[in-house]
Amino acid sequence: MAKIIDVKGRRVWDSRGRATVEAEVIVGRGTTPLASGRAIAPSGASTGSGEAKSIDAAKAVQSLNGRIRDALRALPVSDQETIDRRLIELDGTPDKGRLGANAMVAASLACAQADAASRKIPLWKKFAGERRVALPVPQIQIFGGGAHARGRVDLQDFMIVCIGAGSFAEALDWTAQVYAAAGARLAKRNALAGVADEGGYWPVFKSNEEALTELVGAISDARLEPGVDVAIALDVAATQLYRGGSYHLDLENRALSAGQLHAMLMRWIERYPIVSIEDPFAETDAAAMQAFTRDAGQKIQVVGDDFFVTQVEKLKIGINSGACNCVLLKPNQVGTVTETLQCWEAARAAGYRAIVSARSGESEDTSIVHLAVGWGVPQLKVGSFSRSERMAKWNEGLRIEEALGAKALPFPARKLFKP
Ligand code: PGA
Ligand code: ZN
Repeated sequence: MAKIIDVKGRRVWDSRGRATVEAEVIVGRGTTPLASGRAIAPSGASTGSGEAKSIDAAKAVQSLNGRIRDALRALPVSDQETIDRRLIELDGTPDKGRLGANAMVAASLACAQADAASRKIPLWKKFAGERRVALPVPQIQIFGGGAHARGRVDLQDFMIVCIGAGSFAEALDWTAQVYAAAGARLAKRNALAGVADEGGYWPVFKSNEEALTELVGAISDARLEPGVDVAIALDVAATQLYRGGSYHLDLENRALSAGQLHAMLMRWIERYPIVSIEDPFAETDAAAMQAFTRDAGQKIQVVGDDFFVTQVEKLKIGINSGACNCVLLKPNQVGTVTETLQCWEAARAAGYRAIVSARSGESEDTSIVHLAVGWGVPQLKVGSFSRSERMAKWNEGLRIEEALGAKALPFPARKLFKP
């Protein structure tokens, strides 16, 4: 059985050009190295207040090279639960602020990578074992806004879901067509201000609703049928809009009460082929989230990101009070692989859906794609369809789909989102 011989921390750079931390874990028998695994911590811009706390990258490197290294050495690398428990105990704080959630998540994922490498299996297989798996259905950003594009449009993500696609590869083919069509429409109108943090177009629109009409137009331009082949998913990231008890749409120069925002979103659901809305209300506005889930939850996915911050206790409160019906899973919001898995298991047991998600600050690391496949989480969100930190993950999905071949379970898009 391979044991952890060494842990190294390294300061590297993320997709926004900011310092982050990479962990490298070396495993072997006795003192003979056999294999190693690496992982890089991501970082958010629209972070929930209940997230595990990341620390300065240089300090996170110190954590890895010192206390984390000492604590993990000699542990069997296949025992993810013990590794993660050791990290949690060593940190000893409720918010992971002592070791740093960034140091912890890098270490936790790098151990998983090293275990897979030492057993010469892909990472997804470590989690799936002999279970058959499917590729997750992607939610892919076309327009970026909110905190990722200096508030140019207020909502953060205008995404597509290829609900009629028969495979992950086909979903990406269709996405390429829609992404190109959307860019061509913007360029023609001189409404293209660049790309936002996750690679989606940074548009010059007069209203948030214009993003929806443009998205439907782009799907049609791509010769796909809105609502049948391709549907829309939104991340309102409403915590970012919430000030003084109302929701501010700065682009439109107006502020909405929770009731008005509720009514606006319900109208949009009627008018546009929307299948999923993330964080429609602020993380502190539980009553609004419950009311919205009651009214919209039969028709669409209501996703909690900042609202649950991948914390199983918060998810359980949401399940008991009827807030949301889907949870976003971001490993760095909680700090370890095992705690992320616990969140997914609690969601599944309650009949909640789940989406594995990247952050707005990312890297070439593709571990989360393997988590989604290996755990059987049926959806994946890693940003848009440009910039290599995003494409690295989509392309990894293609490799996994190819490797699975006929052994893959059916791609779940049509089952999850019946038109
Ligand atoms: P973040 O945004 O990584 O900036 O928090 C991603 C999201 O809200 O889903
Ligand atoms: Zn979000």
